[in-house]
Amino acid sequence: MSDDAISRNDNRSTTPLNSAFHGYISGDWAHVEQPVTAQRAQVPFCAGRRRALSSEFVGHTLVFPAGPMLVRSYDTHPPYRAHSAFTYYTGWGADTVPDSVLVLTPNGDHHDAILFYRFPAGRGTEEFYADADIGEFWVGPRPTPEDVAVELGITTKSLADLPNVLTQADSSWAMIREADSAVTEAIDSARGHSDTRDSDLAVFQSEQRLVKDEFEISEIRLAIAATASGFDDVLGTMSEVTAHTRGERLIEGTFNRRARAEGNYVGYETIAAAGAHACFLHWVRNDGPVRDGDLVLMDAGVEVESLYTADITRTFPVNGRFTETQRHVYEAVLEAADAAFAIVKPGIVFRDVHAAAMAVIARHVSDWGFLPVSLDESLSESGQHHRRYMVHGTSHHLGLDVHDCPQARKEFYRDGIVREGMVFTIEPGLYFQVDDLTVPEHFRGIGVRIEDNIVVTSTGAENLSIGIPRTANDVEAWVRRLA
Ligand code: GLY
Ligand code: MN
Repeated sequence: MSDDAISRNDNRSTTPLNSAFHGYISGDWAHVEQPVTAQRAQVPFCAGRRRALSSEFVGHTLVFPAGPMLVRSYDTHPPYRAHSAFTYYTGWGADTVPDSVLVLTPNGDHHDAILFYRFPAGRGTEEFYADADIGEFWVGPRPTPEDVAVELGITTKSLADLPNVLTQADSSWAMIREADSAVTEAIDSARGHSDTRDSDLAVFQSEQRLVKDEFEISEIRLAIAATASGFDDVLGTMSEVTAHTRGERLIEGTFNRRARAEGNYVGYETIAAAGAHACFLHWVRNDGPVRDGDLVLMDAGVEVESLYTADITRTFPVNGRFTETQRHVYEAVLEAADAAFAIVKPGIVFRDVHAAAMAVIARHVSDWGFLPVSLDESLSESGQHHRRYMVHGTSHHLGLDVHDCPQARKEFYRDGIVREGMVFTIEPGLYFQVDDLTVPEHFRGIGVRIEDNIVVTSTGAENLSIGIPRTANDVEAWVRRLA
């Protein structure tokens, strides 16, 4: 028997489907007045972003799907997250109705924006009570088309009308391909090919997002403030954390609690790495103990309702006191972070931020005698031996995605000129794996990363996360104060 022969709900749902039941459940619902909606603060910014996009793609229909709900474990869904390009141009964040699609239709030298989404189905429909994925009896109400149009300042149309629109696709259309495979397939099949304009669109929106507007910067500030509270929450639980066999999980849970309470979710999986786990750059298993004497490397960010995220790392001694070696490593990393920050201003090349941090990291590991070559040889292109202790980059753009603007061309990102309004991380680290024979034993198992989020100003840069303790002394005092 094929899987299709068994309806998904056959074994699970007891919802009656007879007409008497349907008639009864469809009626006798009072009209409930909804609160009056207002235009959201991001509307003028999103309209401006669409105008800039429009002038670049005159005559082309542009399609931005929000994407479907993800499935975890057969038929359950993790918290929904719209595709970032969709949110960038619509301003619709955490409360986006899944499967929505923004279509920009050319109209002379500009575009008309239409937001297709699943309208409320009405209580006379089977969907209302019998569809566990989208039925409003199951997952809560959807907003009315009028409310969405007012809140986002975009004309709305029913998602039911979208298939007919997509059949009109021709070679002038461009879409974000990875957001929703059903939309991608419908457009590809209508136009008979997958066109390279799609990659032009992906690149353009990524590069447009490199410089943040005022709304975006204020949302990132909110994300950082919530993240700071999450770090404080964690430090307030350290006695419980050290008493538990999986203390790292408690750290993750405490931070994520703050993320859910104040924001939409975490911007990426929380890294809670104690002791030698800190040497694994993206340790998200978080199933280890946290012991007195350990450093904890915590890399975490709250994603707020508008879907902007923070990305902060702090490394702290569990007992409030760095050992001498831990402090040496910590201060080397801090010096690298400060050196990188010091050069940031409009006009520099982005990759030079990394180079500034690396010069400090290389000097320290050279001074400690860890390099098999001279400092100059290590710093040369054909050397780079010091990178053994920090294999990752120092900076990435930050915004709607934690690694923002990923499709920007190299000449505008890594090799690009830093401009006012860019927001990026500075996150050097040093990681001495437990089995690293190139370093003395007392360095092994120490991992430190310090990550701040900065915005480029007209004359330099502002460290947006400066309020989260970052010098060794301040970190010690912070741990002790909240213990
Ligand atoms: N916060 C993890 C990373 O930047 O890769
Ligand atoms: Mn980062």
